[in-house]
Amino acid sequence: MKLIIDGANLNVIKELYRYFPIDGVTCNPTILAHEKRNPYDVLMEIRDFIGPNDELHVQVVSGDADTMYEEAHMIRKRLGAGTYIKVPVTREGMRVIKMLKKEGFPVTATAIYTHMQAFLAAKAGADYAAPYINRIDNLGVDGIREARDIHDIFRNNHLACEVLAASFKNVQQALELAKYGIGAATISPDVIEGLVRIDAVDHAVSVFRKDFEAFCGEGANMKNV
Ligand code: E4P
Repeated sequence: MKLIIDGANLNVIKELYRYFPIDGVTCNPTILAHEKRNPYDVLMEIRDFIGPNDELHVQVVSGDADTMYEEAHMIRKRLGAGTYIKVPVTREGMRVIKMLKKEGFPVTATAIYTHMQAFLAAKAGADYAAPYINRIDNLGVDGIREARDIHDIFRNNHLACEVLAASFKNVQQALELAKYGIGAATISPDVIEGLVRIDAVDHAVSVFRKDFEAFCGEGANMKNV
């Protein structure tokens, strides 16, 4: 399962890249608006930092197919041909996915709440389909189960599309999907930090250090003893 940052703050992205095995960055119009700067300035800095090979997923904003199509071309022009165009799976969005795939764009079908949206997007050629786990949960439906079912639908129908699970509220949700072998998960910075924020581990490591220093002296380690 690829591990992707759902965020657009460059400092936070740099920090996470320093510590974790990250495969790329996604964002949505709300996340970009929080940066309060020109969205392309933000995105170009992210692209420069992550390089041309890591995944960058950028969402179109308008509601009609023709304008979404033009947005996709501008995103590609400014951020590179490898940039995944995130298209919400509405009726208009479906048409855009077909148009973009004819031209070889990498496409991430987003705002997925149902199997049917995911199935149609995958049949239209989308590379990823992004079910919103937490938002589906909030509708009283099991988001994890939805994501697993979508993964199975793709496999059983020989569709090349991968699940890019999105909208996580906790680490457990991400681990459930890793266990199932879905393609990717895009996770907010605070939930990514939560993957290793375990008090018992910190405690164990500090006891190791304390015991060693009690015998070898304060500040002792395997470099200086
Ligand atoms: C992904 O495509 C979505 O932008 C995002 O993960 C939604 O997350 P949220 O439900 O936490 O806003």
